[in-house]
Amino acid sequence: MTAGTSVLIVDDEPSVRNLMVRWAESLGMQPRTVENAYEAVRALQTGAYDVAVIDVMMPGRNGLWLASALRRDYPQTAVVLATAHVEELDPRITAVADLLVKPFKRERFLLALDRGREWRRHAIEEIEWHQRLTDELTRQTEAVIVELERNRATGDEADVLFEILRSRVPDVALHSERVSRYALAIASALGGTVRSLPRLELAARFHDLGKAATPHAVLSKPSPLSAVEAGLMRAHVDSGADILEHTHSLADLAPLVRASHEWFNGRGYPRNLAGERIPLESRIIGVADAYDAMTQDRGYRNRLSSAEAISEVLRSVPAQFDPGVVGAFLSVLNRH
Ligand SMILES: [Fe+2]
Repeated sequence: MTAGTSVLIVDDEPSVRNLMVRWAESLGMQPRTVENAYEAVRALQTGAYDVAVIDVMMPGRNGLWLASALRRDYPQTAVVLATAHVEELDPRITAVADLLVKPFKRERFLLALDRGREWRRHAIEEIEWHQRLTDELTRQTEAVIVELERNRATGDEADVLFEILRSRVPDVALHSERVSRYALAIASALGGTVRSLPRLELAARFHDLGKAATPHAVLSKPSPLSAVEAGLMRAHVDSGADILEHTHSLADLAPLVRASHEWFNGRGYPRNLAGERIPLESRIIGVADAYDAMTQDRGYRNRLSSAEAISEVLRSVPAQFDPGVVGAFLSVLNRH
């Protein structure tokens, strides 16, 4: 497939450019050459390239700038950096297929193109895998809504919805029941600051509702998640809230569920809410959820003891958790 590979060569030195062109042509490729980063951007706007070989030191925008632009805007194009000054490379540029140290020989250049092709094949697979997972999440979110609409008449809407959760992800349903018990206990220890206990209990029961729609490949993966899969996992928060917004009687739980994975310091998701902008109910659910998750086995890691989980929770105060809520939770645990 070498001859069909499209290569963009970016270097301000004509002699270096010509050498690389000759080597690439000897394999039947027809590389395009440009002499600076701006021309490279223009070339990328009008044509697709499998591999870009980029000189780091160039007048104007340098090769590192161009490499980051490529990673952001052209995720399928592999980047090979070429430089005589390895020590000047920015360690933050990690997503490159290969690094050529000047001066390099023909064989080393061809190896870099091979690595570029391999990098690109992998990148395309990742992008397709991500797309399949995203499509499945959308499809399953809709399927849960359809199932709810079909069964709504058979009983209380909250019971029907919880039954859907239980039938699709029994472990999550059990976890949610425990979280709702912890949440109620925390609320009573806080003494009357929570507006409605039944609403808190329901929000806790449905805080992981979106996992009923999360692709199984992600939910039950026995090893740590890739970045793409972790993103999909985080999407369960919004998909659960979206399902709740489609209900007749539970739509007011949606904002509580949506905020249940926010962090007290604003570094959570999906909205980066901080402090008291996170509803109190969501802050309570966050603590109860983390504690229960840590004290249960999860495929790839063993459960923590209660004491270990508490010290983990304390380590995350006040970054992740509201100190007042954690204080109330500790007083609940001490009583038992
Ligand atoms: Fe949870």
